[in-house]
Amino acid sequence: MKRVAILISGSGSNMVSLVESMVGDYPARPALVLSNVPGAGGLAKADALGVETAVVDHRDFPKDREAFENALISRIDAVEPDIICLAGFMRILTPVFLSHYAGRMLNIHPSLLPKYKGLNTHARAIEAGDTEAGCSVHEVTAELDGGPILGQARVPIEPGDTPDTLAARILPMEHRLYPLVLARFATGDRTPVELP
Ligand code: GRF
Repeated sequence: MKRVAILISGSGSNMVSLVESMVGDYPARPALVLSNVPGAGGLAKADALGVETAVVDHRDFPKDREAFENALISRIDAVEPDIICLAGFMRILTPVFLSHYAGRMLNIHPSLLPKYKGLNTHARAIEAGDTEAGCSVHEVTAELDGGPILGQARVPIEPGDTPDTLAARILPMEHRLYPLVLARFATGDRTPVELP
């Protein structure tokens, strides 16, 4: 049974979906939910789900990303996780952190990577005139939103879509995709998941 640390910055809906999946035969269990934002909505949700929570506030480490990441690492490693899941964790990570968890860290990104790395993915997909959009789970490497893709889910872009309506169509797919990919990854299977 793999132990999973989940890193969030916001509402934590993907975290909830992961935690709620980790029951029964599922090959992993949540060990920690950590936020860099005190008061992030996901912390109360994790607490309600009975998962240990922690806060490492990046603002306590002004202009010292390395000290922030070392604090993150020591708090995460205290629970001895096998896998790290980034789920709406909105900090850029440096090689200090990335190399420490190399090969055992996943992220979910709301675009069909390699398209639209970075922010404002939904607006960029609409602006480009794309007819489909979606989300990707990928292994985290040194390249931002650039590691091997372990799963994707696709949705149509409808006429009249706004970034908000498109995000609302993609988010439930994120909630389905991430637990499926994590389950495979936890058993050492890197075959990409394709949804629907
Ligand atoms: C999701 O859209 C995720 O893909 C992106 O940030 C959002 C996080 O939402 N990276 P939540 O905190 O899981 O609700």
